Amino acid sequence: MSLPAGFTERLEHLGALDRITQGLAKAVRQVLPSGHPLRDVLHGVPTGHPLHPPLATVSLGCWTATAVLDLIDADPRAARAVLVTGIAGALPAAAAGITDWSVLHREQQRVGFVHAVVNLTALGLYTGSLWLRVTGRQRAGRTFGFLGLAAAGVGGFLGGHLAYRMTAGPSHAEPLTHLVPLGWHDLCRLWDLPDGRPVTRRLGYIQLFVLRHGAHVKVLADRCSHLAGPLHQGRLVLENDEACVVCPWHGSVFRIEDGAVVHGPATSPQPAFEVNVRGDGVVQVRPRQG
Ligand code: FES
Repeated sequence: MSLPAGFTERLEHLGALDRITQGLAKAVRQVLPSGHPLRDVLHGVPTGHPLHPPLATVSLGCWTATAVLDLIDADPRAARAVLVTGIAGALPAAAAGITDWSVLHREQQRVGFVHAVVNLTALGLYTGSLWLRVTGRQRAGRTFGFLGLAAAGVGGFLGGHLAYRMTAGPSHAEPLTHLVPLGWHDLCRLWDLPDGRPVTRRLGYIQLFVLRHGAHVKVLADRCSHLAGPLHQGRLVLENDEACVVCPWHGSVFRIEDGAVVHGPATSPQPAFEVNVRGDGVVQVRPRQG
């Protein structure tokens, strides 16, 4: 195992962090409870993608530009301008990041906590760098800037580990429909489904959320797009007069008609299936086109 991977895996299992991470995550969820409009915006529900990664890219880009301008001995005002832009961009990035972090699995929260501490250290170093520069101590300001970039690099590495190795952020439902061959597939018999209570049914390799109301059946992928929670165990609610299901793990709300995200933390819709009830009562499904 490579040295960085060994380090991040040790962080994943660092149970000593749990007291602080659990308390902090709970506090964030109390300030921004499930369904709060600001929480949905910070998760990225309106844009359909997590908001934290693109915001963080702004700061990282600006701070990298600061280092380049310092290295080529460019006009100090230019370096200051991009440095300030990076600091300003870090604040909304941190707000979005901590909101996402508050609804992750325990191991993800451990790595995410260290990611946040390292990035806050980078922010502190850049703030110090700015102060040194505006008070005329260019050389020390540049040194603080390089230290800040080193810290931001470590923070970025941990963020990459969270996103790509621990899959905090990508949709957990997107690959599912690729596992279903084209065309209609027999799922079950209509009258074997309970009325008004969601159940799960297997279709090949994947689990489906199935809800019958009388002779009408709605079908979604069962693994929540946020972190793969079992939607068939969720509560049924009405949001804006539309039937929705609340994920039992972190409270994402999906419209049952088409799987659209109503409230985060999920930002990707839940794959929906078209349903055909044959004359002999067999329920058939196929992935919804478009
Ligand atoms: S798994 Fe997190 S909201 Fe569904």
